[in-house]
Amino acid sequence: MSELNSIALKILSKGQGILAADESTSTMTKRLESVNIPSTPKNRLIFRQTLFSSSSMSSCIGGVILYDETIKQKVSDNKSVPELIQSANSVPGIKVDTGAKVLANSLKEKITEGLDGLRDRLKEYYKFGARFTKWRGVYNITKDHPSKLSIHSNAHALARYSAIVQECNMVPIVEPEVLMDGNHSAQDCLIKTSEVIKKCFEELILHKIDLTGLILKPNMILAGSTSDKKIESTEVAKLTINCLKSSVPSEVPGIAFLSGGQSELEATENLNLINKENNTNFIMSYSYGRALQQSALKHWSKDINDVDGTQKVFNHRAKMNTLAAQGKWSKDLEN
Ligand code: 13P
Repeated sequence: MSELNSIALKILSKGQGILAADESTSTMTKRLESVNIPSTPKNRLIFRQTLFSSSSMSSCIGGVILYDETIKQKVSDNKSVPELIQSANSVPGIKVDTGAKVLANSLKEKITEGLDGLRDRLKEYYKFGARFTKWRGVYNITKDHPSKLSIHSNAHALARYSAIVQECNMVPIVEPEVLMDGNHSAQDCLIKTSEVIKKCFEELILHKIDLTGLILKPNMILAGSTSDKKIESTEVAKLTINCLKSSVPSEVPGIAFLSGGQSELEATENLNLINKENNTNFIMSYSYGRALQQSALKHWSKDINDVDGTQKVFNHRAKMNTLAAQGKWSKDLEN
């Protein structure tokens, strides 16, 4: 087993998943301001530190994706944020893309940037303790999108990123997110997501990526957020598994879904059914941002010193998702 493969398995084994706490400062500012908390470096740290020192970290959270600001912060004079995460036997990771920018010659689409200087940044992040990384490409579904140009260029960037990350002995999370925005059908989402993922693996193979040492972070197959043709969770599970079975090479050890705007309950219920139906060899777990943090953030914002209460809310969500990652969740456990 390669070192990269064992890191990927350590993060996702036994129902563990990933806490995506890598919101950029501008995204985190939106989240904090939505609950009337000023977005200062200190407040961003207090919230994140509260989550990272929760008891569910060691049982449920195999890895945490951090943002550049957070990986460099200290929780005390002699303990850094990555050391806090490691002390719970969880693996620190880092978002390394620099965001999605307008794609030249297809101005309604985006291309993710961040390859310039990446090797040097990775060496620095490795020293801070990061052992895995994240890069997110985004795709919109409309009548004309995603275009071949966006599918190709984002896959190319994801592959170049993955090659440099593996060279630096870290596991790349490859995140091609087909957005939920729009009124497209689940069938449209299935067709476009399959095309996007297949192109990613074509490029990853061309760039000689060790497929046993990466984690795929895809969207689930859902109808668009404004579509009136919503589908049942059982159908989400069936379509999602079919999509991944036909587009992901069998060497890939693990898939960790993003929540992408689903409610906390939807994200848990869908993940649970995916695992109940999972007839593949892929581990299917979670790498949730909003679907792990929303209720905890709301609770915390009422009293930012209520560490125990906030952790209780977070522990519950983490536990529910870890059960769902094993197909062992049921709705009555929510109470
Ligand atoms: P959400 O689960 O909130 O979609 O965030 C996951 C993520 O990391 C998006 O890049």
